[in-house]
Amino acid sequence: MKIAVSGKGGVGKTTITALIAQAFADSGKDVLAVDADPSPCLADALCFPSELKDSLHPIAEMEDLIYERTGAKPGASGGFFSLNPRVDDIPDKFSVKHRGVRLLEMGSVEFGGGGCICPEGAMVKTLFTHLLFRKDEVLLLDMYAGVEHLGRATVDFVDAMLIVVEPTNRSLNTSTQIIKLATDIGLNKIYLVANKIRNEGDVEFIEKFKPDIPLLANFNSSQKVNEADHLNVAVYDHVKELKEEAMLTVKRLYDLSNID
Ligand SMILES: Nc1ncnc2c1ncn2[C@@H]1O[C@H](COP(=O)(O)OP(=O)(O)OP(=O)(O)O)[C@@H](O)[C@H]1O
Ligand SMILES: [Mg+2]
Repeated sequence: MKIAVSGKGGVGKTTITALIAQAFADSGKDVLAVDADPSPCLADALCFPSELKDSLHPIAEMEDLIYERTGAKPGASGGFFSLNPRVDDIPDKFSVKHRGVRLLEMGSVEFGGGGCICPEGAMVKTLFTHLLFRKDEVLLLDMYAGVEHLGRATVDFVDAMLIVVEPTNRSLNTSTQIIKLATDIGLNKIYLVANKIRNEGDVEFIEKFKPDIPLLANFNSSQKVNEADHLNVAVYDHVKELKEEAMLTVKRLYDLSNID
């Protein structure tokens, strides 16, 4: 199962990706979580121990690797470099694993409208394609806002794109823009995930103003999320109601995609 998580800044993409990743892992799946945020923080959300975090390096910033595979250094815009570098060994070599969740960091890449124009862009894009083709693995992509990493050729492999929203007009407006971009590249399995729900009014607000895609889950707002951060423990372990919603979300995803 391949799942992309998107949404406006700060709505809770990383928190929800971490919750769902752990729920998949606890249900016995091999999980690869990919942090595509230029300033990665999924490792913290998953509470990876610091020695593992220290050995994790964003792929787009690994100069020697990018040079070895593409023939050019990151940032090079002229000259020749491979647009289709070898990437098949990267997920296993450069990820770290904790409690059943394997984590890979992509790093910061500027994607121009016309496609990738730099060696690290070619590397990351080829890697995304490769990850979407890999079988027998739950892939979770924490994508910050855009969907430009997902090329048209790969959208068929995405089982679900989750757009996280909070009960605000702004986040719902952003979700509408993301839906437009996603449908433009042919992605149509798009679901809304509501987060930071405080009361019944918030649920009604989202149901009334949400774009016309199914609402897959409602994650409540909880003071304990902040508490988990202060205690340096995973939200999954500290906030029972959010763990339960994550487990339900995993079940609903299986029901939707007809995959075991
Ligand atoms: N259900 C929740 N209840 C309370 N606080 C939450 C909840 N979900 C997320 N938060 C808090 O909201 C903030 C943003 O969450 P998070 O980093 O997951 O969002 P994000 O969408 O990944 O942000 P960014 O766009 O910066 O990557 C964090 O401080 C997080 O602890
Ligand atoms: Mg994030």
